[in-house]
Amino acid sequence: MDASGKFCYFNVPPKIHIEILGQRFPTDDFSNITPAIISKTASQLHLKHSHPLSTLRELIESAYPDFTHASSVSPLVTPFKNFDELSFPLDHPGRAVTDSYYANRDMMLRTHTSAHEVEMFRKGETKWLLTADVYRRDEIDASHYPIFHQVEGARIFDADGNGLKEVEEDNERLSKVLASANIVIEDVPHISPTNPVQFDHDPVFSELVAKNLKLSLNNLMLKIFGGVAGISKDRPLRVRWIEAYFPFTSPSFEVEVFFQGKWLEILGCGVVRQATLNTASVPNKIGWAFGLGLERIAMVLYSIPDIRLFWSEDSRFLSQFEQGKINVFQPYSKHPSCFKDVSFWLSPNCALHENDFCDVVRDTAGDLVEDVKRIDHFVHPKTKRTSLCYRINYRSMDRSLSNEEVNHVQSQVVTRLKERFAVEIR
Ligand code: PHE
Repeated sequence: MDASGKFCYFNVPPKIHIEILGQRFPTDDFSNITPAIISKTASQLHLKHSHPLSTLRELIESAYPDFTHASSVSPLVTPFKNFDELSFPLDHPGRAVTDSYYANRDMMLRTHTSAHEVEMFRKGETKWLLTADVYRRDEIDASHYPIFHQVEGARIFDADGNGLKEVEEDNERLSKVLASANIVIEDVPHISPTNPVQFDHDPVFSELVAKNLKLSLNNLMLKIFGGVAGISKDRPLRVRWIEAYFPFTSPSFEVEVFFQGKWLEILGCGVVRQATLNTASVPNKIGWAFGLGLERIAMVLYSIPDIRLFWSEDSRFLSQFEQGKINVFQPYSKHPSCFKDVSFWLSPNCALHENDFCDVVRDTAGDLVEDVKRIDHFVHPKTKRTSLCYRINYRSMDRSLSNEEVNHVQSQVVTRLKERFAVEIR
């Protein structure tokens, strides 16, 4: 972006339209979806038979047999749906073009599955799961990829005596299942001064709903992690609840699971903001929602070391998996790394966000890049110009790269950096 907050793509003729999933969008100053991203929007890895993400989706769905299961919803949503309907403030950083992918000012790729909450509730769904691909502009390393998958789950009750009874009965049922399970839970209060009940909620009802959410998710954690290596009678599954903040829930929580010696962040959740339910024309309901990322869980369950592998078409990857089965991934080879540095002076008129740099790299080199690190940053004391140096680690998951090939890709990266951001190579 330049000083006025606009992208500056030097010498690149503006594209009039971009096409995504068969739809054409006129471009404007927000448009930042790259061809590398567009080419993956139809992948639906969570539905690909035998793919780890598909097995994990089904495992989660099996924990909610009486819920509606949605799994093929277009990633194109309005910023209104992704943010405004969910009470995101106008200055929320997630809205920035540096953080999210926009077709133009009016259409974007969803950044989370919560973007579909209002639409699902409006359709009259009261218990549902929705699995989908989500998009965020981010750095490049083994655990970050600009596309990943989330499962959103929600349940709403009638905000009256009948609903109250339904929650109480369900809480009793779920507590019984947990009582005999091999699980240790570190809890926080359902409601607290720092994690408050909503002003338009009955505190007793809200507390019961938060309890229902926690019981339901503790059972889900058992379903996902209870059967895997390392959990035994004297080594129970450890789940920890943490107070959190989301614009569209209150109280809000995060869940972590202790797995292979580390606390792993699993999901965000909370009691749905009444404003969301009012917008969805179901003002007389109260309920909960959660959103969980599939890749991070699949990486530990299957011991998949690099997030790019989920996108691999290599049969040495795909043939290792069977629908419905969780097994340990056997790395077929680790090909050598090839590091290339690029140092440059920034143009005084054109800012370059780290995510812009990573998108140029991704768009040029695709999945040949394992990670990108900024290794130097300084401001010249006299001229006040800024110099940056990035180290790009090229390593294919499938084959050895020749130095010529990497040099060629690197020179394309450099050319695009000069064209789009007017940098001066040092
Ligand atoms: N959408 C949130 C995220 O992506 C997760 C979330 C879902 C939190 C539902 C609360 C309720 O981080």
